[in-house]
Amino acid sequence: MEFPAHLTQFKRMLTSLATERTAKLAKPFHIAPEIYFDAGRAKAELDKLFHRLPLVLGHESALPKAGDVMTLDLVERPLILMRARDGQIRGFLNACRHRGARLADCPEPARKSALICPYHNWTYDLNGHLKHVPCIETFPGLNTAQHGLTPVPLEVRHGVIWGIPQAGASMDLDGFLAGIGADLDVFGFGAMHGFARAVTRRKTNWKLVMDAFLESYHVVRLHHKTVGPFFQDGAAILDQVGPHIRSIVARQEFPEIANLPESAWDARRHASFAYVLYPNTVLVLHPDYTSILGMFPAGTDHTDFVHVMLTPHAPRNEKERDHWQRSFELIEGGVFQAEDLWISERIQAGLRSGANTRFTFGQLEYGIKVFHQNLDRDLGTRSIED
Ligand code: FES
Ligand SMILES: [Fe+2]
Repeated sequence: MEFPAHLTQFKRMLTSLATERTAKLAKPFHIAPEIYFDAGRAKAELDKLFHRLPLVLGHESALPKAGDVMTLDLVERPLILMRARDGQIRGFLNACRHRGARLADCPEPARKSALICPYHNWTYDLNGHLKHVPCIETFPGLNTAQHGLTPVPLEVRHGVIWGIPQAGASMDLDGFLAGIGADLDVFGFGAMHGFARAVTRRKTNWKLVMDAFLESYHVVRLHHKTVGPFFQDGAAILDQVGPHIRSIVARQEFPEIANLPESAWDARRHASFAYVLYPNTVLVLHPDYTSILGMFPAGTDHTDFVHVMLTPHAPRNEKERDHWQRSFELIEGGVFQAEDLWISERIQAGLRSGANTRFTFGQLEYGIKVFHQNLDRDLGTRSIED
């Protein structure tokens, strides 16, 4: 076992399985459906979470070389990410400093030497500096140094691109990570390879999708035709690390560890580790690849779901490529889209019907309570009722 925190979770899981499946962590609790469709709440989430906290915007491997540029259109803030010749990846708002025209369209990364605005050809270098203004003599007194692209805080750490999509924001990444970075290093995030990426817009509030990754109660049921049979029923352990969550769900192989030395306990064979990186990212460590999932609100009733699949290295031959491609199709299409997002849409569709004045959550859904308590703290709301 690679890491003390993982070892501790495995030991607690052993005890929990030996005694009773349900960890008596919390009483059942309730949440009102309104939090998933209220427009005021959605606005507060943008202001206080998505435009204020470091978000996972991608994996460093998406922009491997100088001149690599990628655009993101999430949470009402169009962004350009660029790797400059000094090796740094920087983030800017995707809007020209002349009259605001959108500069680039690269949802798939592309290599560029400069950004040229299509309207009047103001031209920016890879550092975002304004380098050329046609007919500049007609702008007497223009200070080009003050008309570079508008930066947003951005930093690569543990292979992950973190950023706050808000001009003028400041980012204290160490304080925010609260130590969870050690886990990312253990799993070797920095050295991984971005194998596939998919972005879809689904008709569900982002928090319903988060909720689906915060409990193991549904795993053998909703996923009974796909990944459900790989897991023990409702056997999960969860810890808070600052605002983030480290959790494991026991795989069918988990009981083997009772007869194995600790050195042979395997964080990927015996269990599936998953992390919630607050507020909207989920990392799932599958046996031989990793999913980074981002749930970005698009209004009250829609979510932009971003799935980056990381493999330990680039495929070395066709067989490896085919294997990981099939894995991506199964997990992205067959599990996340067709099951987790599908059921989230089926909740959203009935939220306003009045069928439930509040939802009742059981002890196996404790992770949802932890997550919503963290949201309540930042939003000044009280969503959890006993
Ligand atoms: S708006 Fe970009 S050059 Fe005019
Ligand atoms: Fe699920």
